[in-house]
Amino acid sequence: MSTSEEKTKEVSANADSDSGGAIILFFIIGFVASLIAGWIIFPKLLYCQKKQPIDFNHVLHMEEVDDGCESCHFFREDGTYAGVPKLEQCVGCHEEAVGEDPEEVKFVNEYVAKEREVPWLIYSKQPDCVFFSHAAHVKTAGMDCVTCHGPIGESTSLKVYEENWITGYSRDIWGQNMSGLKEHAWDRMKMDDCAECHVKNNVKQTSVQTKKGACFVCHK
Ligand code: HEC
Ligand code: HEC
Ligand code: HEC
Ligand code: HEC
Ligand code: HEC
Repeated sequence: MSTSEEKTKEVSANADSDSGGAIILFFIIGFVASLIAGWIIFPKLLYCQKKQPIDFNHVLHMEEVDDGCESCHFFREDGTYAGVPKLEQCVGCHEEAVGEDPEEVKFVNEYVAKEREVPWLIYSKQPDCVFFSHAAHVKTAGMDCVTCHGPIGESTSLKVYEENWITGYSRDIWGQNMSGLKEHAWDRMKMDDCAECHVKNNVKQTSVQTKKGACFVCHK
């Protein structure tokens, strides 16, 4: 073997071990990149962010109203839930702007003066096929709003509404955590979350896996 041939061999052996290292490095970079894409970028792309038409301060208003939460979120005579308030619940105090807060000025000029309802975005909105009754949970079962909604009633500002642009679901239904882990009862409100509590509380006919009839408890 000539010396020049030996040199070439050495060089190619070096190149082999280098490319082995490079492959592992590329693999690690690719792996980390896909984790970032899957856990950070993908969820960001999946949800479009919408601001509420006007901001609303729950803490400030709880000091102003007489009947607590029910001043705005109440049961009608027929037992149905009024949900988000209509202008009617606001005009008594906001016929004209009481202060200088730009959100209040916008509210009075754009909605109260024009008699237009505020198109609030509903964080907890379920698809139309789902039947939900506040009376069953709040009145009969005596549950606290926080169990399902989290501490929105104690907030000073409304969070950004996130909508899944494929399914149209609110982020509050699909869940905050991509891994599906649940830290609080209100982190997610999908079918399994409703069913989990129903099974625990022995709500009649709700064992989703075993009884077909159960579907009609929540789907009408
Ligand atoms: C002066 C009226 C007023 C009072 C009093 C009030 N709220 Fe609200 N609340 C609102 C308005 C306006 C919204 C609409 C924002 C939105 O679209 O979520 C809202 C939204 C909510 C929502 C979010 C519903 C959803 O899914 O979008 C929850 C939960 C809520 N309020 C709970 C409470 C609780 C609990 C209390 C008592 C501690 C309370 N509120 C008192 C006016 C009021
Ligand atoms: C009992 C009286 C009362 C009722 C009812 C009431 N407000 Fe207010 N609201 C106030 C007062 C007082 C302020 C503080 C004004 C200031 O000093 O800037 C305020 C401030 C605001 C502001 C500016 C601060 C903020 O929350 O971001 C907005 C917007 C507002 N109200 C919207 C509403 C809406 C919407 C309703 C009906 C769902 C409503 N208010 C019902 C008394 C009331
Ligand atoms: C067992 C869970 C649960 C409890 C407890 C609960 N809610 Fe809800 N709430 C929901 C669900 C689910 C929806 C969505 C219903 C739908 O879209 O059909 C909702 C919707 C709402 C809405 C929006 C309704 C609309 O106009 O579309 C408001 C406001 C609200 N809840 C306030 C409250 C308040 C205030 C309390 C406490 C008195 C409370 N909720 C207790 C689960 C709950
Ligand atoms: C944290 C517990 C809990 C969660 C979460 C919950 N529920 Fe319930 N639900 C109950 C309890 C307890 C009852 C029984 C109330 C009673 O005694 O009538 C009930 C009753 C009902 C009823 C009335 C059943 C009947 O025949 O009277 C419907 C409908 C219902 N739930 C739908 C839902 C839906 C839809 C969801 C999810 C969006 C949900 N629930 C989430 C605890 C829960
Ligand atoms: C405890 C309440 C509950 C019961 C019982 C229940 N569901 Fe659901 N279901 C929901 C809720 C809430 C949603 C919307 C959130 C989601 O997609 O997880 C839903 C969504 C669905 C969807 C998707 C609809 C869409 O538009 O995305 C289908 C299909 C469905 N349910 C079928 C069933 C069948 C079949 C059964 C009986 C074996 C059943 N459900 C029992 C609460 C329930």
